[in-house]
Amino acid sequence: MDTEYILELEGVTKEFPGVKALDNIHLKVRKGTVHALMGENGAGKSTLMKIIFGIYTPDRGVIRFKGNPIKLHGSKDAIRLGISMIHQELSPVPHMTVAENIFLGRESTKGFGWINRKKMDQEAGEWLQSLNINIDPRTKMIDLSIANMQMVEIATAVSHHADLLIMDEPTSAITDKEVERLFAIIDSLKKKGVTIIYISHKMDEIFKISDDITVFRDGQCIGTKAAADLTQDTLIQMMVGREIKQVFHKEPADIGEVALSVRNLTRNGKFRDVSFEVRKGEILGIAGLMGSGRTEIIESIFGIVPADAGEIYIKGRKVTIKSPQDAIRYKMGLLTEDRKITGAFLPLSVKDNMIISSIDDFTVKGYIKGKLANDMCRAFVERLNIKTPSLNQTMLNLSGGNQQKVLLGRWLMNNPDILILDEPTRGIDVGAKAEIHKLMSRLAQTGKAIIMISSELPEVLGMSDRILVMHEGVPKGELEREKASQERLMELAYS
Ligand SMILES: Nc1ncnc2c1ncn2[C@@H]1O[C@H](COP(=O)(O)OP(=O)(O)OP(=O)(O)O)[C@@H](O)[C@H]1O
Ligand SMILES: [Mg+2]
Repeated sequence: MDTEYILELEGVTKEFPGVKALDNIHLKVRKGTVHALMGENGAGKSTLMKIIFGIYTPDRGVIRFKGNPIKLHGSKDAIRLGISMIHQELSPVPHMTVAENIFLGRESTKGFGWINRKKMDQEAGEWLQSLNINIDPRTKMIDLSIANMQMVEIATAVSHHADLLIMDEPTSAITDKEVERLFAIIDSLKKKGVTIIYISHKMDEIFKISDDITVFRDGQCIGTKAAADLTQDTLIQMMVGREIKQVFHKEPADIGEVALSVRNLTRNGKFRDVSFEVRKGEILGIAGLMGSGRTEIIESIFGIVPADAGEIYIKGRKVTIKSPQDAIRYKMGLLTEDRKITGAFLPLSVKDNMIISSIDDFTVKGYIKGKLANDMCRAFVERLNIKTPSLNQTMLNLSGGNQQKVLLGRWLMNNPDILILDEPTRGIDVGAKAEIHKLMSRLAQTGKAIIMISSELPEVLGMSDRILVMHEGVPKGELEREKASQERLMELAYS
Protein backbone atom coordinates (compact mmCIF):
# COMPACT_ATOMS: atom_id res chain seq x y z
CA MET A 1 0.00 0.00 0.00
CA ASP A 2 1.39 3.35 -0.94
CA THR A 3 0.77 6.43 1.14
CA GLU A 4 2.01 9.95 1.35
CA TYR A 5 3.00 9.31 4.96
CA ILE A 6 5.84 7.09 6.06
CA LEU A 7 4.70 7.24 9.67
CA GLU A 8 1.26 7.71 11.20
CA LEU A 9 0.53 7.65 14.90
CA GLU A 10 -2.96 7.27 16.24
CA GLY A 11 -3.72 7.76 19.91
CA VAL A 12 -0.29 6.82 21.20
CA THR A 13 -0.26 7.01 24.98
CA LYS A 14 2.48 6.22 27.50
CA GLU A 15 2.48 6.53 31.23
CA PHE A 16 5.37 6.13 33.64
CA PRO A 17 4.79 5.94 37.39
CA GLY A 18 3.55 9.40 38.31
CA VAL A 19 4.05 10.85 34.80
CA LYS A 20 1.78 10.86 31.79
CA ALA A 21 4.59 11.20 29.26
CA LEU A 22 2.38 10.94 26.17
CA ASP A 23 -1.33 11.57 26.02
CA ASN A 24 -3.20 10.40 22.94
CA ILE A 25 -0.71 11.50 20.28
CA HIS A 26 -1.83 11.78 16.66
CA LEU A 27 0.97 12.59 14.26
CA LYS A 28 1.68 12.12 10.56
CA VAL A 29 5.10 12.37 9.00
CA ARG A 30 5.35 12.90 5.24
CA LYS A 31 7.70 10.70 3.25
CA GLY A 32 11.01 12.26 2.28
CA THR A 33 10.71 15.29 4.54
CA VAL A 34 12.57 16.62 7.54
CA HIS A 35 10.01 16.76 10.32
CA ALA A 36 11.05 18.66 13.43
CA LEU A 37 9.74 18.03 16.92
CA MET A 38 9.92 20.87 19.40
CA GLY A 39 8.72 21.44 22.91
CA GLU A 40 9.82 22.14 26.44
CA ASN A 41 12.03 19.82 28.46
CA GLY A 42 10.00 16.83 29.52
CA ALA A 43 7.31 17.41 26.87
CA GLY A 44 7.58 13.80 25.69
CA LYS A 45 9.65 14.05 22.49
CA SER A 46 12.29 11.44 23.34
CA THR A 47 9.70 9.08 24.80
CA LEU A 48 7.73 9.13 21.57
CA MET A 49 10.86 8.49 19.52
CA LYS A 50 11.84 5.59 21.77
CA ILE A 51 8.41 4.10 21.11
CA ILE A 52 8.88 4.40 17.35
CA PHE A 53 12.33 2.83 17.71
CA GLY A 54 10.94 -0.08 19.73
CA ILE A 55 12.60 0.73 23.05
CA TYR A 56 9.34 1.44 24.86
CA THR A 57 5.97 -0.18 24.22
CA PRO A 58 3.05 2.25 24.14
CA ASP A 59 0.20 1.65 26.59
CA ARG A 60 -2.26 2.39 23.80
CA GLY A 61 -2.34 3.51 20.22
CA VAL A 62 -1.43 2.44 16.72
CA ILE A 63 1.81 3.02 14.85
CA ARG A 64 1.60 2.77 11.09
CA PHE A 65 4.84 2.56 9.14
CA LYS A 66 4.63 2.74 5.35
CA GLY A 67 0.91 2.27 5.71
CA ASN A 68 1.01 -0.90 7.82
CA PRO A 69 0.38 -1.14 11.53
CA ILE A 70 3.53 -2.34 13.31
CA LYS A 71 4.31 -3.79 16.71
CA LEU A 72 7.91 -3.59 17.81
CA HIS A 73 9.67 -5.77 20.35
CA GLY A 74 12.93 -3.94 20.70
CA SER A 75 15.12 -1.78 18.51
CA LYS A 76 16.30 -4.69 16.37
CA ASP A 77 12.75 -4.93 15.02
CA ALA A 78 12.80 -1.24 14.21
CA ILE A 79 16.13 -1.45 12.44
CA ARG A 80 14.93 -4.43 10.42
CA LEU A 81 11.92 -2.42 9.24
CA GLY A 82 14.10 0.50 8.25
CA ILE A 83 13.99 2.77 11.29
CA SER A 84 17.18 4.08 12.85
CA MET A 85 17.87 6.49 15.69
CA ILE A 86 20.54 8.83 16.98
CA HIS A 87 19.98 9.04 20.70
CA GLN A 88 19.92 12.19 22.77
CA GLU A 89 22.30 10.64 25.28
CA LEU A 90 25.55 9.38 23.80
CA SER A 91 26.11 5.75 24.66
CA PRO A 92 29.55 4.77 23.42
CA VAL A 93 31.24 1.58 24.55
CA PRO A 94 34.35 3.44 25.70
CA HIS A 95 36.98 0.74 25.43
CA MET A 96 35.98 -0.46 22.02
CA THR A 97 37.15 1.10 18.80
CA VAL A 98 35.12 3.39 16.59
CA ALA A 99 34.63 0.57 14.07
CA GLU A 100 33.48 -1.83 16.78
CA ASN A 101 31.01 0.75 18.02
CA ILE A 102 29.62 1.34 14.55
CA PHE A 103 29.00 -2.36 13.97
CA LEU A 104 28.05 -3.24 17.53
CA GLY A 105 25.32 -5.87 17.71
CA ARG A 106 25.24 -6.33 13.97
CA GLU A 107 27.50 -9.37 13.85
CA SER A 108 24.57 -11.74 14.10
CA THR A 109 22.17 -9.88 11.81
CA LYS A 110 24.77 -9.85 9.07
CA GLY A 111 25.31 -13.55 9.38
CA PHE A 112 29.04 -13.52 9.92
CA GLY A 113 31.23 -12.62 12.85
CA TRP A 114 33.66 -9.76 12.46
CA ILE A 115 36.66 -11.99 12.80
CA ASN A 116 38.09 -10.09 9.95
CA ARG A 117 39.00 -6.93 11.77
CA LYS A 118 40.65 -5.43 8.75
CA LYS A 119 37.46 -5.66 6.78
CA MET A 120 35.46 -4.13 9.61
CA ASP A 121 37.90 -1.23 9.96
CA GLN A 122 37.82 -0.71 6.25
CA GLU A 123 34.04 -0.66 6.05
CA ALA A 124 33.79 1.69 9.02
CA GLY A 125 36.41 3.89 7.41
CA GLU A 126 34.39 4.03 4.22
CA TRP A 127 31.27 5.05 6.10
CA LEU A 128 33.08 7.79 7.95
CA GLN A 129 34.71 9.02 4.79
CA SER A 130 31.48 9.06 2.82
CA LEU A 131 30.09 11.33 5.51
CA ASN A 132 33.19 13.48 5.48
CA ILE A 133 34.04 12.57 9.06
CA ASN A 134 37.74 12.56 9.71
CA ILE A 135 38.24 9.91 12.40
CA ASP A 136 40.44 6.81 12.36
CA PRO A 137 38.10 3.81 12.81
CA ARG A 138 40.71 2.10 14.99
CA THR A 139 40.65 4.84 17.65
CA LYS A 140 39.19 3.81 21.01
CA MET A 141 35.95 5.67 21.74
CA ILE A 142 37.30 6.86 25.06
CA ASP A 143 40.04 8.79 23.27
CA LEU A 144 37.59 10.79 21.19
CA SER A 145 36.28 14.22 22.03
CA ILE A 146 32.60 14.37 22.83
CA ALA A 147 31.99 16.05 19.47
CA ASN A 148 33.64 13.18 17.65
CA MET A 149 31.69 10.64 19.70
CA GLN A 150 28.57 12.33 18.48
CA MET A 151 29.80 12.17 14.87
CA VAL A 152 30.40 8.41 15.27
CA GLU A 153 26.87 8.06 16.61
CA ILE A 154 25.59 9.85 13.52
CA ALA A 155 27.64 7.59 11.23
CA THR A 156 26.33 4.50 13.02
CA ALA A 157 22.72 5.53 12.57
CA VAL A 158 23.20 6.42 8.91
CA SER A 159 24.99 3.14 8.20
CA HIS A 160 21.80 1.21 8.89
CA HIS A 161 20.36 2.34 5.52
CA ALA A 162 17.14 3.37 7.21
CA ASP A 163 14.10 4.85 5.47
CA LEU A 164 13.22 6.74 8.63
CA LEU A 165 16.04 8.27 10.60
CA ILE A 166 15.32 9.77 14.00
CA MET A 167 17.76 12.36 15.31
CA ASP A 168 17.26 13.31 18.94
CA GLU A 169 19.32 16.45 19.53
CA PRO A 170 22.15 15.35 17.23
CA THR A 171 23.97 18.67 17.48
CA SER A 172 24.05 19.08 21.25
CA ALA A 173 27.80 18.44 21.40
CA ILE A 174 29.06 19.65 18.04
CA THR A 175 29.62 23.12 16.66
CA ASP A 176 29.45 25.08 13.46
CA LYS A 177 31.63 23.08 11.15
CA GLU A 178 30.23 19.72 12.18
CA VAL A 179 26.68 21.03 12.15
CA GLU A 180 27.21 22.11 8.54
CA ARG A 181 28.49 18.64 7.79
CA LEU A 182 25.48 17.05 9.42
CA PHE A 183 23.14 19.29 7.43
CA ALA A 184 24.89 18.25 4.23
CA ILE A 185 24.38 14.62 5.26
CA ILE A 186 20.70 15.31 5.94
CA ASP A 187 20.34 16.95 2.53
CA SER A 188 21.85 14.03 0.68
CA LEU A 189 19.75 11.53 2.65
CA LYS A 190 16.65 13.50 1.83
CA LYS A 191 17.54 13.41 -1.85
CA LYS A 192 17.64 9.63 -1.58
CA GLY A 193 14.11 9.68 -0.18
CA VAL A 194 14.99 9.14 3.47
CA THR A 195 12.63 10.72 6.00
CA ILE A 196 14.14 12.43 9.02
CA ILE A 197 12.58 13.26 12.36
CA TYR A 198 14.70 15.94 13.94
CA ILE A 199 14.56 17.05 17.57
CA SER A 200 16.36 20.18 18.68
CA HIS A 201 15.94 23.19 20.93
CA LYS A 202 17.90 25.35 18.51
CA MET A 203 15.53 27.54 16.53
CA ASP A 204 17.94 28.49 13.77
CA GLU A 205 18.63 24.81 13.02
CA ILE A 206 14.96 23.98 12.95
CA PHE A 207 14.16 26.71 10.49
CA LYS A 208 17.14 25.89 8.33
CA ILE A 209 16.37 22.26 7.69
CA SER A 210 12.78 21.35 8.47
CA ASP A 211 9.79 21.06 6.19
CA ASP A 212 7.22 20.48 8.92
CA ILE A 213 7.29 21.27 12.64
CA THR A 214 5.26 19.60 15.36
CA VAL A 215 5.08 21.12 18.82
CA PHE A 216 4.64 19.09 22.00
CA ARG A 217 3.63 20.39 25.38
CA ASP A 218 3.15 18.32 28.54
CA GLY A 219 2.76 15.04 26.72
CA GLN A 220 0.34 16.43 24.17
CA CYS A 221 0.70 17.22 20.54
CA ILE A 222 -0.16 20.90 20.11
CA GLY A 223 -0.08 20.87 16.33
CA THR A 224 1.89 20.42 13.12
CA LYS A 225 2.64 23.29 10.74
CA ALA A 226 4.74 23.84 7.66
CA ALA A 227 7.98 25.54 8.71
CA ALA A 228 7.36 28.16 6.04
CA ASP A 229 4.17 29.20 7.82
CA LEU A 230 5.88 29.80 11.17
CA THR A 231 8.17 32.46 12.61
CA GLN A 232 10.41 32.01 15.64
CA ASP A 233 7.98 34.05 17.70
CA THR A 234 4.89 32.10 16.72
CA LEU A 235 6.76 28.86 17.31
CA ILE A 236 7.82 29.92 20.81
CA GLN A 237 4.27 30.98 21.49
CA MET A 238 3.07 27.50 20.47
CA MET A 239 5.69 25.89 22.71
CA VAL A 240 5.39 27.80 25.94
CA GLY A 241 2.23 29.78 25.49
CA ARG A 242 3.94 33.10 26.13
CA GLU A 243 6.53 35.37 24.61
CA ILE A 244 10.15 34.85 25.57
CA LYS A 245 13.37 36.56 24.74
CA GLN A 246 15.77 33.93 23.52
CA VAL A 247 18.78 35.49 25.11
CA PHE A 248 18.43 37.40 28.30
CA HIS A 249 20.94 40.19 28.73
CA LYS A 250 23.07 40.34 31.82
CA GLU A 251 22.02 43.05 34.19
CA PRO A 252 24.68 45.37 35.61
CA ALA A 253 26.36 44.11 38.78
CA ASP A 254 28.99 45.64 41.05
CA ILE A 255 32.32 44.33 39.91
CA GLY A 256 34.47 43.59 42.95
CA GLU A 257 37.89 42.19 43.75
CA VAL A 258 39.59 39.50 41.70
CA ALA A 259 38.16 36.12 42.67
CA LEU A 260 40.26 33.88 40.48
CA SER A 261 43.30 34.52 38.42
CA VAL A 262 45.28 32.21 36.24
CA ARG A 263 48.85 32.84 35.12
CA ASN A 264 50.53 31.11 32.19
CA LEU A 265 48.57 27.95 32.69
CA THR A 266 49.80 25.23 30.33
CA ARG A 267 48.81 21.65 29.71
CA ASN A 268 51.01 19.97 27.18
CA GLY A 269 49.27 19.30 23.92
CA LYS A 270 46.05 20.98 25.06
CA PHE A 271 46.62 24.66 25.81
CA ARG A 272 49.47 26.96 26.64
CA ASP A 273 50.17 30.24 28.40
CA VAL A 274 46.63 30.94 29.37
CA SER A 275 46.28 33.94 31.67
CA PHE A 276 43.08 35.65 32.74
CA GLU A 277 41.21 36.81 35.77
CA VAL A 278 37.62 36.96 36.79
CA ARG A 279 36.21 39.29 39.42
CA LYS A 280 33.34 39.08 41.84
CA GLY A 281 30.13 40.03 40.10
CA GLU A 282 31.60 39.36 36.70
CA ILE A 283 30.75 36.84 34.02
CA LEU A 284 33.73 35.87 31.94
CA GLY A 285 32.80 34.11 28.72
CA ILE A 286 35.23 31.71 27.09
CA ALA A 287 34.61 31.33 23.38
CA GLY A 288 36.33 29.34 20.68
CA LEU A 289 35.72 26.46 18.35
CA MET A 290 35.39 22.86 19.39
CA GLY A 291 38.88 21.64 20.25
CA SER A 292 40.21 25.13 21.01
CA GLY A 293 41.01 24.05 24.57
CA ARG A 294 38.13 25.71 26.39
CA THR A 295 36.96 22.67 28.31
CA GLU A 296 40.51 21.52 29.00
CA ILE A 297 41.37 24.83 30.68
CA ILE A 298 38.55 24.63 33.16
CA GLU A 299 39.25 20.95 33.73
CA SER A 300 42.69 21.97 34.89
CA ILE A 301 41.44 24.83 37.03
CA PHE A 302 39.00 22.44 38.67
CA GLY A 303 41.67 19.79 39.28
CA ILE A 304 40.24 17.09 37.02
CA VAL A 305 43.44 17.02 34.96
CA PRO A 306 45.96 19.32 36.68
CA ALA A 307 47.99 21.65 34.48
CA ASP A 308 51.67 20.97 33.70
CA ALA A 309 52.75 24.55 34.38
CA GLY A 310 51.42 27.88 35.51
CA GLU A 311 49.72 29.27 38.60
CA ILE A 312 46.24 29.63 39.95
CA TYR A 313 45.37 32.33 42.50
CA ILE A 314 42.19 32.53 44.49
CA LYS A 315 41.48 35.90 46.06
CA GLY A 316 45.13 36.73 45.50
CA ARG A 317 46.46 33.63 47.21
CA LYS A 318 48.38 31.05 45.24
CA VAL A 319 46.73 27.65 45.44
CA THR A 320 47.44 24.11 44.35
CA ILE A 321 44.47 22.24 42.99
CA LYS A 322 45.13 18.57 42.45
CA SER A 323 41.60 17.23 42.49
CA PRO A 324 37.99 18.39 42.26
CA GLN A 325 37.83 17.97 46.05
CA ASP A 326 40.50 20.66 46.35
CA ALA A 327 38.54 22.90 44.00
CA ILE A 328 35.32 22.42 45.96
CA ARG A 329 37.21 23.26 49.16
CA TYR A 330 38.22 26.55 47.54
CA LYS A 331 34.52 27.18 46.91
CA MET A 332 34.45 26.46 43.22
CA GLY A 333 31.67 24.70 41.35
CA LEU A 334 31.78 23.17 37.89
CA LEU A 335 28.88 22.25 35.66
CA THR A 336 30.47 19.98 33.06
CA GLU A 337 29.59 20.02 29.38
CA ASP A 338 28.54 16.43 29.23
CA ARG A 339 26.10 15.42 31.89
CA LYS A 340 26.11 11.71 31.21
CA ILE A 341 29.82 11.04 31.08
CA THR A 342 31.15 13.41 33.71
CA GLY A 343 28.27 14.95 35.58
CA ALA A 344 25.25 12.91 36.52
CA PHE A 345 25.02 9.80 38.63
CA LEU A 346 22.24 8.27 36.59
CA PRO A 347 21.26 5.40 38.91
CA LEU A 348 20.91 7.78 41.87
CA SER A 349 17.90 9.92 42.70
CA VAL A 350 17.31 13.54 41.82
CA LYS A 351 17.88 14.43 45.47
CA ASP A 352 21.18 12.54 45.77
CA ASN A 353 22.42 14.11 42.57
CA MET A 354 21.60 17.52 43.94
CA ILE A 355 23.10 17.24 47.40
CA ILE A 356 26.18 15.24 46.50
CA SER A 357 28.56 18.21 46.39
CA SER A 358 27.16 19.91 49.47
CA ILE A 359 26.90 16.74 51.48
CA ASP A 360 28.96 18.18 54.37
CA ASP A 361 26.43 20.96 54.85
CA PHE A 362 23.71 18.41 55.38
CA THR A 363 25.62 15.97 57.54
CA VAL A 364 25.90 15.94 61.30
CA LYS A 365 28.02 13.17 62.77
CA GLY A 366 27.53 11.04 59.70
CA TYR A 367 23.77 11.49 59.50
CA ILE A 368 22.16 13.42 56.70
CA LYS A 369 19.73 16.04 57.91
CA GLY A 370 16.87 14.71 55.84
CA LYS A 371 14.38 17.51 56.21
CA LEU A 372 16.82 20.30 55.49
CA ALA A 373 18.10 18.46 52.43
CA ASN A 374 14.56 17.83 51.21
CA ASP A 375 13.54 21.44 51.69
CA MET A 376 16.57 22.71 49.83
CA CYS A 377 16.05 20.28 46.96
CA ARG A 378 12.39 21.11 46.72
CA ALA A 379 13.20 24.81 46.57
CA PHE A 380 15.59 24.28 43.66
CA VAL A 381 13.20 21.96 41.82
CA GLU A 382 10.69 24.77 41.97
CA ARG A 383 13.09 27.56 41.13
CA LEU A 384 14.51 25.76 38.10
CA ASN A 385 11.14 24.32 37.17
CA ILE A 386 12.49 20.76 37.11
CA LYS A 387 9.95 18.26 35.87
CA THR A 388 10.04 15.20 38.11
CA PRO A 389 7.30 13.30 39.94
CA SER A 390 9.38 13.31 43.15
CA LEU A 391 12.82 13.93 44.61
CA ASN A 392 13.32 10.18 44.75
CA GLN A 393 12.97 9.67 41.00
CA THR A 394 16.17 8.22 39.53
CA MET A 395 18.04 10.61 37.28
CA LEU A 396 17.90 8.07 34.48
CA ASN A 397 14.17 8.64 34.16
CA LEU A 398 14.35 12.39 33.75
CA SER A 399 14.28 14.03 30.33
CA GLY A 400 17.64 15.28 29.06
CA GLY A 401 17.00 18.94 29.76
CA ASN A 402 15.73 18.23 33.24
CA GLN A 403 18.87 16.26 34.09
CA GLN A 404 20.85 19.33 33.11
CA LYS A 405 18.75 21.46 35.43
CA VAL A 406 19.32 19.07 38.34
CA LEU A 407 23.08 19.39 37.87
CA LEU A 408 22.83 23.14 37.77
CA GLY A 409 20.85 22.90 41.01
CA ARG A 410 23.68 20.85 42.51
CA TRP A 411 26.16 23.65 42.03
CA LEU A 412 23.80 26.41 43.05
CA MET A 413 23.06 24.55 46.26
CA ASN A 414 26.75 24.23 46.92
CA ASN A 415 26.84 28.02 46.89
CA PRO A 416 30.32 28.42 45.39
CA ASP A 417 32.17 31.74 45.13
CA ILE A 418 33.42 30.81 41.69
CA LEU A 419 30.97 29.08 39.41
CA ILE A 420 32.24 27.52 36.20
CA LEU A 421 29.59 26.61 33.66
CA ASP A 422 30.49 24.62 30.56
CA GLU A 423 27.64 24.94 28.05
CA PRO A 424 25.08 25.64 30.78
CA THR A 425 22.02 25.71 28.52
CA ARG A 426 22.83 22.82 26.23
CA GLY A 427 19.66 20.85 25.60
CA ILE A 428 17.57 23.32 27.60
CA ASP A 429 14.32 24.64 26.17
CA VAL A 430 13.82 28.33 25.42
CA GLY A 431 11.74 29.08 28.48
CA ALA A 432 14.12 27.44 30.94
CA LYS A 433 17.08 28.95 29.14
CA ALA A 434 15.79 32.44 29.81
CA GLU A 435 15.34 31.46 33.47
CA ILE A 436 18.91 30.20 33.71
CA HIS A 437 20.27 33.37 32.15
CA LYS A 438 18.29 35.44 34.61
CA LEU A 439 19.60 33.30 37.45
CA MET A 440 23.21 33.75 36.30
CA SER A 441 22.69 37.47 36.24
CA ARG A 442 21.27 37.41 39.74
CA LEU A 443 24.17 35.28 40.99
CA ALA A 444 26.64 37.80 39.62
CA GLN A 445 24.74 40.52 41.44
CA THR A 446 25.25 38.65 44.70
CA GLY A 447 29.00 38.74 44.12
CA LYS A 448 29.70 35.39 42.49
CA ALA A 449 32.41 35.17 39.88
CA ILE A 450 31.17 33.19 36.90
CA ILE A 451 33.09 31.61 34.05
CA MET A 452 30.92 30.44 31.19
CA ILE A 453 31.90 28.43 28.16
CA SER A 454 29.37 28.53 25.38
CA SER A 455 29.35 27.62 21.72
CA GLU A 456 26.33 29.78 21.13
CA LEU A 457 27.49 33.21 20.10
CA PRO A 458 24.33 35.08 21.11
CA GLU A 459 24.63 33.54 24.58
CA VAL A 460 28.28 34.52 24.94
CA LEU A 461 27.65 38.02 23.67
CA GLY A 462 24.50 38.52 25.72
CA MET A 463 25.75 37.21 29.06
CA SER A 464 29.48 38.00 29.30
CA ASP A 465 31.11 41.12 30.71
CA ARG A 466 34.30 40.06 29.01
CA ILE A 467 35.09 37.30 26.53
CA LEU A 468 38.29 35.33 26.29
CA VAL A 469 38.67 33.86 22.83
CA MET A 470 40.67 30.66 22.36
CA HIS A 471 42.14 29.20 19.19
CA GLU A 472 43.93 25.87 19.08
CA GLY A 473 44.92 26.02 22.72
CA VAL A 474 46.17 29.59 22.61
CA PRO A 475 44.34 32.66 23.93
CA LYS A 476 43.76 35.02 21.02
CA GLY A 477 42.53 37.98 22.98
CA GLU A 478 39.92 39.36 25.30
CA LEU A 479 36.93 41.39 24.20
CA GLU A 480 35.11 43.82 26.46
CA ARG A 481 31.35 43.50 26.34
CA GLU A 482 30.90 46.83 24.57
CA LYS A 483 33.44 46.00 21.89
CA ALA A 484 32.39 42.42 21.30
CA SER A 485 30.50 41.52 18.17
CA GLN A 486 29.78 38.31 16.37
CA GLU A 487 32.20 39.25 13.58
CA ARG A 488 35.06 40.22 15.91
CA LEU A 489 34.62 37.03 17.88
CA MET A 490 34.63 34.79 14.83
CA GLU A 491 37.71 36.57 13.51
CA LEU A 492 39.64 35.75 16.65
CA ALA A 493 38.29 32.23 16.97
CA TYR A 494 39.17 31.25 13.42
CA SER A 495 42.56 32.86 12.89
N1 LIG B 1 11.92 5.64 31.77
C1 LIG B 1 11.21 6.60 32.37
N2 LIG B 1 10.66 6.42 33.59
C2 LIG B 1 9.92 7.38 34.18
N3 LIG B 1 9.69 8.58 33.64
C3 LIG B 1 10.20 8.83 32.43
C4 LIG B 1 10.99 7.86 31.73
N4 LIG B 1 11.38 8.40 30.56
C5 LIG B 1 10.86 9.65 30.52
N5 LIG B 1 10.15 9.91 31.64
C6 LIG B 1 9.39 11.14 31.93
O1 LIG B 1 8.52 11.38 30.85
C7 LIG B 1 8.44 12.78 30.55
C8 LIG B 1 8.84 13.02 29.11
O2 LIG B 1 10.24 12.83 28.96
P1 LIG B 1 11.01 12.94 27.59
O3 LIG B 1 12.39 12.44 27.83
O4 LIG B 1 10.22 12.28 26.53
O5 LIG B 1 11.02 14.52 27.36
P2 LIG B 1 11.68 15.37 26.17
O6 LIG B 1 10.57 16.10 25.50
O7 LIG B 1 12.54 14.51 25.35
O8 LIG B 1 12.53 16.46 26.99
P3 LIG B 1 14.02 17.08 26.73
O9 LIG B 1 13.83 18.24 25.80
O10 LIG B 1 14.42 17.57 28.08
O11 LIG B 1 14.88 16.00 26.21
C9 LIG B 1 9.36 13.46 31.56
O12 LIG B 1 8.58 13.93 32.62
C10 LIG B 1 10.29 12.36 32.02
O13 LIG B 1 10.75 12.58 33.32
MG1 LIG C 1 14.57 14.39 25.07
